[in-house]
Amino acid sequence: MFGEMVGVWAMCLWEQMGQPNKVNLVELGPGRGTLMADLLRGASKFKNFTESLQIHMVECSPTLQKLQHSNLKCKDEDNTDDKVNKRSVSTLTGTPVTWHAALEQVPSGCMKISKTSRHTQ
Ligand SMILES: C[S@@+](CC[C@H](N)C(=O)[O-])C[C@H]1O[C@@H](n2cnc3c(N)ncnc32)[C@H](O)[C@@H]1O
Repeated sequence: MFGEMVGVWAMCLWEQMGQPNKVNLVELGPGRGTLMADLLRGASKFKNFTESLQIHMVECSPTLQKLQHSNLKCKDEDNTDDKVNKRSVSTLTGTPVTWHAALEQVPSGCMKISKTSRHTQ
């Protein structure tokens, strides 16, 4: 339920921002990826919101990256030559997901969520 509530909060922010067509949703230290999976499941009926999302997972552990990829039910895109910033799509909502080993690698955007500290930024 926590992830679903974070999703409701994120959607409220997105509405307050004027429902931009594209917004970065960044999670720092996503662990197993449960928060983001719950968020996407909870938001899956709100297509305008989920279609605007670009998800960025900041995770230094390759093992946990794989687990997050699995829990978000991601499929890799075949048509990218960029192996470092390989893009996947979560089949939960059709949302693009990219992984980064460090926060500095995330492109500039509008919204960040940190579950590690249980505080929003
Ligand atoms: C204790 S887990 C927290 C998992 C999740 N946020 C939760 O609350 O259940 C810490 C997470 O942060 C990641 N992590 C730790 N240091 C990191 C760093 N410097 N850069 C990126 N990810 C990091 C770990 O690999 C792990 O996924």
